[in-house]
Amino acid sequence: MAQSKHEFIERSVGWLIVLTLLTVSVGGLVEIVPLFFQKTTTTAIDRTGKPLNVKPYEPLRLVGRDIYVREGCYNCHSQMIRPFRAETERYGHYSVAGEYIYDRPFQWGSKRTGPDLARVGGRYSDEWHRVHLVNPRDVVPESNMPAFPWLQRPVKADDIEDKMRALQTLGHPYTAEEIAGARAALEGKSEMDAIVAYLQGLGIVLSNFK
Ligand code: HEC
Repeated sequence: MAQSKHEFIERSVGWLIVLTLLTVSVGGLVEIVPLFFQKTTTTAIDRTGKPLNVKPYEPLRLVGRDIYVREGCYNCHSQMIRPFRAETERYGHYSVAGEYIYDRPFQWGSKRTGPDLARVGGRYSDEWHRVHLVNPRDVVPESNMPAFPWLQRPVKADDIEDKMRALQTLGHPYTAEEIAGARAALEGKSEMDAIVAYLQGLGIVLSNFK
């Protein structure tokens, strides 16, 4: 009996691999490629097309963000609220792509040993964050978050212009004056000031939006 085409493909591993990969890549491309061209994923607008007030990180928050990455906060904290009731009731409005256009790399994460931080900005006072970061047990007795007492040291400011220029080449609209004034903005600031400034700015663009 003559072999059908289907049988032929199923019986020859080489063809099966090639044709499977082809099918999967077409499926992938159809899902992924449009995301690079959709306004809702590439510009700062919410799902209804309303512009979001998202700005590139100013120097202190930019440094704070780097400290967040350095300390591995993302290992225990996600920054992405999924569009489910259990999440939005607890954390606030679900995340939209436009909020993250100046996050390189984004800090979405997936591990939640601690709560999601996408909308933590404005939830606590600066002082609460300072006490919490130096020793979480002082404000949340049952906390198992590690203490970060060394954040009291001064920020490293000598590479801030380079960081901003690098982001500028990726399309972050920093002006020459902003870059020139960056070191002065970091003068006398501690790593604690920087990370608290970063945390207080998280998610505030959508916090008044229900
Ligand atoms: C080992 C896991 C772990 C790491 C690493 C960690 N955290 Fe936490 N974090 C927690 C847990 C658990 C909680 C909940 C208890 C508490 O509030 O302390 C928490 C709570 C928080 C809260 C309060 C959130 C809220 O909505 O109440 C903030 C803010 C926070 N962490 C910031 C940070 C920052 C900034 C870093 C990095 C410097 C960090 N965390 C690193 C586990 C972690």
